[in-house]
Amino acid sequence: SWTTGNVIEEQVAAIREQVGDKRAICGLSGGVDSAVAAALVQRAIGSQLTCVYVDHGLMRKGETEQVEKDFVAATGVQLKVVDAQERFLAALAGVSDPEEKRKIIGREFIRVFEQAQAEIIADEGPAVEFLVQGTLYPDVVESGGGTGTANIKSHHNVGGLPEDLEFQLIEPLRKLFKDEVRMVGQELGLPEEIVQRQPFPGPGLGIRIVGEVTKERLDLLREADAIAREELTAAGLDRDIWQCPVVLLADVRSVGVQGDGRTYGHPIVLRPVSSEDAMTADWTRMPYDVLARISTRITNEVKDVNRVVLDVTSKPPGTIEWE
Ligand code: XMP
Repeated sequence: SWTTGNVIEEQVAAIREQVGDKRAICGLSGGVDSAVAAALVQRAIGSQLTCVYVDHGLMRKGETEQVEKDFVAATGVQLKVVDAQERFLAALAGVSDPEEKRKIIGREFIRVFEQAQAEIIADEGPAVEFLVQGTLYPDVVESGGGTGTANIKSHHNVGGLPEDLEFQLIEPLRKLFKDEVRMVGQELGLPEEIVQRQPFPGPGLGIRIVGEVTKERLDLLREADAIAREELTAAGLDRDIWQCPVVLLADVRSVGVQGDGRTYGHPIVLRPVSSEDAMTADWTRMPYDVLARISTRITNEVKDVNRVVLDVTSKPPGTIEWE
């Protein structure tokens, strides 16, 4: 019968068999899938696994610390953190177009990750042959069921490595659905905040600032987002809401009044949605008093924000994200 205990036991045995005495690398994104995949592989092969976390500076408040501290404490995993914040900010300077942002963030991410990979291989020798991926069953079905190897083009060769490094993939979540992955993660002792995390886009807050991405705007949005998340959690709404993007309209200003002064600040958009699979969605009819608390706190606590608006558009015609 299906139990998380059986799944873990089975996967641990299979991973040990597959990897032998070789080494593996796993990229951590802060999301559930990569965290559970890494924890499973860690349970199987311990210090033969090295995880890599690229800090692109586009994460929400506390998320990088969650990976660096809580995830490491829970699993004992060997983690290499790359602080690439400056690099991402520089690459994004002057860019407002959403697809251009995505392209830049994706490109920089691959470069930084590959550089880290190459450094690990330079340190640990050519025995690194495996790459861990948090592929789920729905991804397998969607892509036609193939598996096997990943060809990593090395733009930044370190220490005379071959041009193309070929990794075999370890995909311990290939037979699981999302809710099962969460159960396995819980059984493995991962922190609740990681296991129950709602979907968050790879490009992070970079596509939740409508306009150019700057350090100042990121910090401002991080504060507003943290307040919204805190209040939604306190109100017990995390399970009713699929996700709630918090968006900064950085190029829009409106007039307000605060204390005895006129303000001219930016709006924050709340985008709470209900959904089964993110393909379609509806805006969540959430309690007015929770909206009121979020609005009051954001306008009081976040500098340069003087207005909070609610997005009441379904998908379609709107998308979940604003960019
Ligand atoms: P949209 O905005 O297309 O979002 O309705 C659907 C789901 O996908 C997430 N999303 C992304 N995830 N990279 C990602 O990894 C992206 O570029 C991206 N864009 C949107 C979004 O958060 C939602 O869950």
